[in-house]
Amino acid sequence: MTERPTDESAGAGEHVPVLLQEVLTHLVGSSRASERADGESGIFVDATFGRGGHSRKLLERLSAQGQLLGLDRDPEALAEAQRLAGQDPRFSFCQARFSELQDVLKDQQIEGVRGVLMDVGVSSPQLDRPERGFSFTAQGPLDMRMNPEEGSSAAEWLNQADEAEIAQVLWMYGEERQSRRIARAIVAARPLTTTLELADLVSQAVPRPRGPQRKHPATRTFQAVRIFVNEEAQELDQGLQQGFSSLAVGGRLAVISFHSLEDRKVKHAFRQLSQPPKMPRRLPVRNLDQEVQGRLIGGPMKPSLAELNANPRSRSATLRVIEKVR
Ligand SMILES: C[S@@+](CC[C@H](N)C(=O)[O-])C[C@H]1O[C@@H](n2cnc3c(N)ncnc32)[C@H](O)[C@@H]1O
Repeated sequence: MTERPTDESAGAGEHVPVLLQEVLTHLVGSSRASERADGESGIFVDATFGRGGHSRKLLERLSAQGQLLGLDRDPEALAEAQRLAGQDPRFSFCQARFSELQDVLKDQQIEGVRGVLMDVGVSSPQLDRPERGFSFTAQGPLDMRMNPEEGSSAAEWLNQADEAEIAQVLWMYGEERQSRRIARAIVAARPLTTTLELADLVSQAVPRPRGPQRKHPATRTFQAVRIFVNEEAQELDQGLQQGFSSLAVGGRLAVISFHSLEDRKVKHAFRQLSQPPKMPRRLPVRNLDQEVQGRLIGGPMKPSLAELNANPRSRSATLRVIEKVR
C-alpha cells in the first residue's frame, strides 16, 4: 500500500491538480464523439472541488452553455468556490458529501450529467495546515475531520474507543502490522489531544523502519484514523454508485485514488459495471452483453515522469475512467 505523503513540500497551502491532462482528455476530451469546436456543452460535476485546481481547467474546456457543479464537504473549500462562482457564471458550488450527490442534483433539477470527477482523499491545504490535525509532522489538535462541524474528531474517537476497535481500524484502513501493539499504547496513554502526541506514541511503540525508503512510523496509523473518522470507505462506495447513476448515456466518471484500498474499490466497482453479470446455472440463456452498463476507458493511468518530478505528491495517484453505455 502507498499513502499520499504528508511531509513533502508542494508549496504550503497550494494544491497542484494531479493527472490533469489525463482527466481533461478522458473526461471532456478530444476523443469524444460529442465534442464541439467551441467546447463541451453538458453539465459536469467536480465532486472533490478542494481548491478548484481541476475545476478551473475543466471550465476552460466547456462551451458558454456548459456548466460545472463543484462539491466538497470541507467548509474551507467554500471561499475559493465563491471566488470562482463570482468569476464564472457557468460554475456553482454546494457544500456536500459524495453520499449526498444525487440529492444535490435532484434539488437543482439536474439530470443526465456528462462527466463526474472524484479526486479522493485529502487536499494539500488540508494536510499542510497543522490546525486541521492531519499531519504527523506538525503540532496541531488531533482532529482530522474534512468537515470539522460534522461527526467526532480523531481525539474524541481514540479517547473512548475499545482497544480492539482501534486495532481493527488500524489493520483494516492502514494495513498496519503492529495494529494491536499501537492500539494498546494508545489506550494506555489516553487522553490524547495533539497530533504529535499520537505520532510520538506510535514511534515509540513500534520498531523504527529501516532503509532509504522508510516512512514515518505513524504514516499508516494517521491514514487509518483519517479514513475511519471521515467514513471515507463508505463515502467512496456511495460516490462511485451515485456518480455513475447520475451520468447520461455517453457520460463518464473519472476517479483519482491515492492508495491501494481506494483503488481496489474503484477497480472492483468499475469491473462490476463493465462486465456481463454472472449467469446463475439453470436460468434461461439471455444476452448478458446487453446488460453491461459501462465501458472502461483505457486502463489505470499513472502520473508521467514529468509530473512526478514537478509534483512528488502525485506519486501514488491512479486514475480510472468509465463511460456509461446504457
Ligand atoms: C485531493 S482533494 C481535491 C483537490 C482538487 N481536485 C483540486 O485540484 O483542488 C480532495 C477533496 O475532496 C474532498 N472530499 C473528500 N471526501 C469527500 C466526500 N466524501 N465528499 C465530499 N468531498 C470530499 C476533501 O475535502 C478535499 O477537499
